[in-house]
Amino acid sequence: MSGAGPTEMLRPDGMGLARAAALLRAGRLVAFGTETVYGLGGDATNPEAVAGIYEAKGRPRFNPLISHYPTAEAAFRDVRAGELARKLAEAFWPGPLTLVLRRAAACPVSLLASAGLETLAVRVPSHPVARALLAEAGIAVVAPSANRSGGISPTTAAHVMAELEGRIAAVLDSGRSAVGLESTVLDLSSETPVLLRPGGVALEELERLIGPVGRISAAGIPTGPGQHPGLRSPGLLLSHYAPTLPVRVNVTEVAPNEMLLAFGPPLDGALTVYQLSETGDLRQAAARLFEGLRWLDGVGLRQGARGIAVMTVPAEGLGLAINDRLIRAAAPRGKAE
Ligand code: TXA
Ligand code: MG
Repeated sequence: MSGAGPTEMLRPDGMGLARAAALLRAGRLVAFGTETVYGLGGDATNPEAVAGIYEAKGRPRFNPLISHYPTAEAAFRDVRAGELARKLAEAFWPGPLTLVLRRAAACPVSLLASAGLETLAVRVPSHPVARALLAEAGIAVVAPSANRSGGISPTTAAHVMAELEGRIAAVLDSGRSAVGLESTVLDLSSETPVLLRPGGVALEELERLIGPVGRISAAGIPTGPGQHPGLRSPGLLLSHYAPTLPVRVNVTEVAPNEMLLAFGPPLDGALTVYQLSETGDLRQAAARLFEGLRWLDGVGLRQGARGIAVMTVPAEGLGLAINDRLIRAAAPRGKAE
């Protein structure tokens, strides 16, 4: 699949940790245990490694990923952490709490990991093997649960092998995950904290420390004390970056004054071209997608372009997620989510 070859099973000793860290730094995918569930790890700053994660999971969509760090200090270099975030980190890190915060200006984490959002989810796991690996790797590691899309989150190395053998470089055997349930995800990117996913840290524990926390109703609308219903729609909550310029997909001809997002040999006549992948490689295209849209939008606005034309990307493998994103970028504004 991704040229992964056979999947190595690594022991959590010095040699295994060194091997796992080296593989991660080389852009390969390594599953490792955390206290919640096993994560499928990749170098957060390497867009092709991040694209490889979606590919290995077979995700039809680019859901944003959680970036993992050995310490709060390391995590807070990549995001803008206020007093609330620091208080929560003090109380619950290392542990099963994920904080969604605005990306720092110089955040090195791939835009693909944020799935086009202005925010990044960060977490410091408490599992000693995970912490040792993150410290040794010395890079931010994005890790969704190490299951195929739609599968059940794995809590043992054997579960991970059953799901992903042959699709990833290695599994670091870290024993059975103690919590067995994913981390709690708390959005701190706007005035009121909002619980996005219940998990390993109970809501009551959070509220004891920071007061009322908003929730997402069954209809997907944030509710709770301090929340004005309808003020923040779920579309806004998870609203992806949409280019300012109008986007047309599946074009076979470029209109006058259009920018072009190319896949393979570019069509003629564009004002400016951004190449997703010269050779038609879907992983490379996924890795470059969000960069490309932002870049074309910025340059196009300055050049007075009328819009962005996008060539056809085949709807197979990672192409499904790429097309899902492109179709939403091209949807009539306000209906993109
Ligand atoms: O316990 C866990 O959190 C595990 C272990 C491996 O750390 N990881 C995990 O990752 O469950 P994943 O990708 O399966 O779930 C990530 C959750 C999703 O619900 C996703 O939508 C949310 O976090 N998320 C990530 N980044 C986000 C962001 N920038 N804004 C809003 N939600 C975000
Ligand atoms: Mg998951």
